[in-house]
Amino acid sequence: MWSPKVAAAILAFVGATNAWQPPSYGGFNLVWTDTFAGNSATSPNQGNWNIITGNLGVNNELETYSSSTRNVQLSGGNTLQLVPWKDSSTFGGWTSGRLESKYTFTPQAGKVTRAEASIRFGSNAQANKQGIWPAFWMLGDSLRHGGSWPNCGEIDILETVNGQATGHGTLHCDVYPGGICNEGNGIGGPVNIANINDFHTWRVEIDRTSNNWQSETLTWSLDGTNFFQITGSRIGNQGVWNNIAHSPLFFILNVAVGGNWPGNPNGSTLDGYGSMMEVGYVAQYST
Ligand SMILES: *[C@@H]1O[C@H](CO)[C@@H](O)[C@H](O)[C@H]1NC(C)=O
Repeated sequence: MWSPKVAAAILAFVGATNAWQPPSYGGFNLVWTDTFAGNSATSPNQGNWNIITGNLGVNNELETYSSSTRNVQLSGGNTLQLVPWKDSSTFGGWTSGRLESKYTFTPQAGKVTRAEASIRFGSNAQANKQGIWPAFWMLGDSLRHGGSWPNCGEIDILETVNGQATGHGTLHCDVYPGGICNEGNGIGGPVNIANINDFHTWRVEIDRTSNNWQSETLTWSLDGTNFFQITGSRIGNQGVWNNIAHSPLFFILNVAVGGNWPGNPNGSTLDGYGSMMEVGYVAQYST
């Protein structure tokens, strides 16, 4: 009894369920997830997340991170919302939200590790998002234990700036400036985002099934379609590769405002839910 209407209803249902629970994938075990269950206007589970506060003094960004539920809240519909607001009482004129997972995971030898989230962006038009910079990314946990950046490794699963319908996946590594990862740019690739206001699945897969580190890979995908890949051999230095792909990582979700990459907001930039990042789940899987 196929009909376009039924098909549309099924697609809408699948799209909606994506936002509530991480999918099951054949051959993979779900190792860790947060599905952001809880009442509207409450904070996410602080057993899972550090809610970051303050201006971190990086990239000339303007936002002051806050633990207020205005900036960091559960929607009540099993999603997390990170919301930037104009606030002239703060140093850069903006408050926003940032979470860092307490959870860390180490990609295992002989396994494929998946790190992914379901994410959508607020409905403000591109012309009203100058300076808005949402991101879903990971840092090497060594940074929290006396290590330095970018030697700790940074895997940016998704960044987008200024409301553009382009997602960027990027790897940072080795030394700053320059080095193997061409810092401060890093090495990465873009992907077009169709329907930017809908939930999409953003993933990095770390494949350690090869017994040769040079054949191991990091692969970025959007909705299951790969758009960028880096091999161990491209990095070409086993110590640097180990820091990226064999060492503990933690998750970060944030909405930055202004700074070196996007440039600062302008007179058209709007704050609030229309400029938010909304997250249906964060999950880590392994074969
Ligand atoms: C702000 O920047 C956006 C591009 O990101 C542009 O479309 C818009 O016209 C600009 N508005 C003003 C007032 O400069």
